Amino acid sequence: MPTKEKLVIFDTTLRDGEQSPGASMTKDEKVRIAIALEKMRVDVIEAGFAISSQGDFEAIKAIANTVKESRICSLSRAVRGDIERAAEALKGANAGRIHTFIATSPIHMKHKLQMAPDDVLAQAVGAVKIARSLIDDVEFSLEDASRTEFDFMCRITEAVIHAGARTINLPDTVGYSDPSEYGLMIKRLMQAVPNADQAIFSVHCHNDLGLAVANSLAAVQNGARQVECTVNGLGERAGNASLEEIVMAIRTRKDVFPVETTINAVHIVPTSRLVSSITGFPVQPNKAIVGANAFAHESGIHQDGILKFRETYEIMRAEDVGWSTNKLSLGKLSGRAALASRLDELGIKFDSKEAFNDVFVRFKALADKKREIYDEDLQALVSDVHMGAEEDALTLVDLEVLSKSGQLPEAKLTIRYQNKEHSADGTGDGAVDAIFKAIEKLVNSETQLQLYSVNAVTQGTDSQGEVTVRLEKNGRIINGMGADTDILVASAKAYLNALTLMRNPGRLHPQLGGV
Ligand code: KIV
Ligand code: ZN
Repeated sequence: MPTKEKLVIFDTTLRDGEQSPGASMTKDEKVRIAIALEKMRVDVIEAGFAISSQGDFEAIKAIANTVKESRICSLSRAVRGDIERAAEALKGANAGRIHTFIATSPIHMKHKLQMAPDDVLAQAVGAVKIARSLIDDVEFSLEDASRTEFDFMCRITEAVIHAGARTINLPDTVGYSDPSEYGLMIKRLMQAVPNADQAIFSVHCHNDLGLAVANSLAAVQNGARQVECTVNGLGERAGNASLEEIVMAIRTRKDVFPVETTINAVHIVPTSRLVSSITGFPVQPNKAIVGANAFAHESGIHQDGILKFRETYEIMRAEDVGWSTNKLSLGKLSGRAALASRLDELGIKFDSKEAFNDVFVRFKALADKKREIYDEDLQALVSDVHMGAEEDALTLVDLEVLSKSGQLPEAKLTIRYQNKEHSADGTGDGAVDAIFKAIEKLVNSETQLQLYSVNAVTQGTDSQGEVTVRLEKNGRIINGMGADTDILVASAKAYLNALTLMRNPGRLHPQLGGV
């Protein structure tokens, strides 16, 4: 049988995914996700946008020093400063890539960049040359490619390949295209550009019309050999093409797609959970592949069919994508060595003995309340410890809630900030409202609560509750997370976490005008 061509899976959860309002991640969280992506055998991990903030720079650097199997990439605008910063962050990588881009559509060039097409072309070529002088692997993106004039797309593509770009990415930046149009665009471009054989053509689709996966797959049928995607479809606005859907479509419909990926699919569900728990973006139950209902059959007719012959209603096996690999990790009697080894397998590292001790103490406390501790519990526990670890974190010391039907709930709490304890009480419409009001008495944050949600970390009534709180202030949106077997405690932790993150300075956005 002829072997199929390889489709490069380029994951941008840590870069475009992080551009989802409120999805910002710490360096340690990014490293944990990068390790999970490496385990899944993602080919390229876009670890961030080095120039955007010191935090992003440090995260790319840490990932480049830790992840050795996947190629590590940093985004940069088509300017020297960005490119040099990206190269600097990637120094420790086994295999690194600089991804540089500039907008090429008439609407972006005229209104955003205020540049003539010839100047954009010259800047693109210059940027690729600078990048190639620093690293061998350079990707160039024509931002808003799907709204770019075809002749200009051909000119710029040929020129940047000539300058040394080895991957050409054609984003549907605003999620405007449809599958037949987008597929044809890729095919015509690859036919029209004389040096097209010297580059891999890549796609990067946004989901504004719900077509990101369909557009990406149409491009693959028409010659694209790299797809940029994110876990759970996270990303700017309506998100990016979802990694799990792309990978499983290619794998399930081998008869339709002329390519294969090297992704180890059993890591899909655990990675999806990790991303959801770190970013505070819950996965909708009916989400393909990773939603809680993706493999659940409710109707009697379906259940009957499945029992008689599984393939009647199932086109994929739940266990192939990592459902039911929900590993019973540890229990009450597990000691330090067992905890350390399991955390190591999960890619969780500690800077100091004290940090591990803190996790161990909390693990024992959790094991007292919950008989079986799963990997998901450990992930939530570690996130919780990391959240309180920053110097300026607002942390919960004590919480007491009085809630009786017919009476206004009351909350009394103590928090720690810069080694000092502060106490307050509050009443509210409900117990959670009372807690948030008590916290606000202490911090007076002037933020607006935009979202409050609770998810069970694992199954069972003794499961930890994971609370997400989304706060907004002057247009800036931050998600906070908190986990505990008591959801009121989890709620207080999540609110304090969001307030702590709100104090960090924002990041530069890559689609900012004026390169
Ligand atoms: O959507 C987009 O065009 C991007 C580019 C920066 C690749 O994210
Ligand atoms: Zn994008």
